[in-house]
Amino acid sequence: MRQSSRYTLERRPMLEASNLDVFYGKSQALRGVSLRVDEGEIVALVGANGAGKTTLLNTVSGLLRPASGSVEFLGKRIDRLAPHKIMKLGICQIPEGRKLFSDMTVGENLEMGAYSSEARKRRKETLEQVYKIFPVLEERRRQSAKKLSGGERQMVAIGRGLMSSPRLCMFDEPSYGLAPKLFLEVLEVVKRLREQGITILLVEQNVRNTLEVADRAYVIENGQIVLEGKGKDLLQNEQVKTAYLGI
Ligand SMILES: Nc1ncnc2c1ncn2[C@@H]1O[C@H](COP(=O)(O)OP(=O)(O)O)[C@@H](O)[C@H]1O
Ligand SMILES: [Mg+2]
Repeated sequence: MRQSSRYTLERRPMLEASNLDVFYGKSQALRGVSLRVDEGEIVALVGANGAGKTTLLNTVSGLLRPASGSVEFLGKRIDRLAPHKIMKLGICQIPEGRKLFSDMTVGENLEMGAYSSEARKRRKETLEQVYKIFPVLEERRRQSAKKLSGGERQMVAIGRGLMSSPRLCMFDEPSYGLAPKLFLEVLEVVKRLREQGITILLVEQNVRNTLEVADRAYVIENGQIVLEGKGKDLLQNEQVKTAYLGI
């Protein structure tokens, strides 16, 4: 492959949020937030509780409307589209709190994720891939989701997102409620998904482990992006060290 074409392939912007202002009533949760994710990247958005991370994801997925600014996906404006239309374009959001359907089996929960007619057509094949990533889910596919451990529930939440055949997968604080070791396993899964061609936006409060896997990262404070850079560079940044790494 020629160097120049490789370059364009790697640099194609997938998600581009520009100057987003988002309000809840009169209270402003995002202030002029701009963030870019290129195809094939793992990009992290890190910040403390209440900084505006979930608000940004909900704005991208169409659950919230920005008062001003824009969101583009592969060059197309999406900030006025309904959530199901945005999902159909290939954006999946793996929510905080691992909301599963407790009365359903693991298998049924996963199948719920094959949302669009296209994803439904590919359901069997995708399900096999999900089971390859999480063999324990195949073993438990007939069990009620109620009986799963925290780590297994997180796997179902991720697996359900993958069932929609996403191009961009947005994770909202996957470390929440997980033992540190299980979170590291989730990060390994994130890396594997990227190897399979899925682009990742990873939102986290667990700053250290997240910056270690992120190609690039943004730091958000009080609804504003205050720093951005390569994940590894931000780990060395004095401001990040004091505020988030306790060094
Ligand atoms: N539904 C809501 N109604 C009013 N304020 C909200 C709502 N959701 C979040 N907020 C406020 O918006 C700010 C950003 O919240 P959020 O995006 O959830 O932060 P994070 O995900 O980084 O913890 C916080 O001040 C929070 O209290
Ligand atoms: Mg949040």
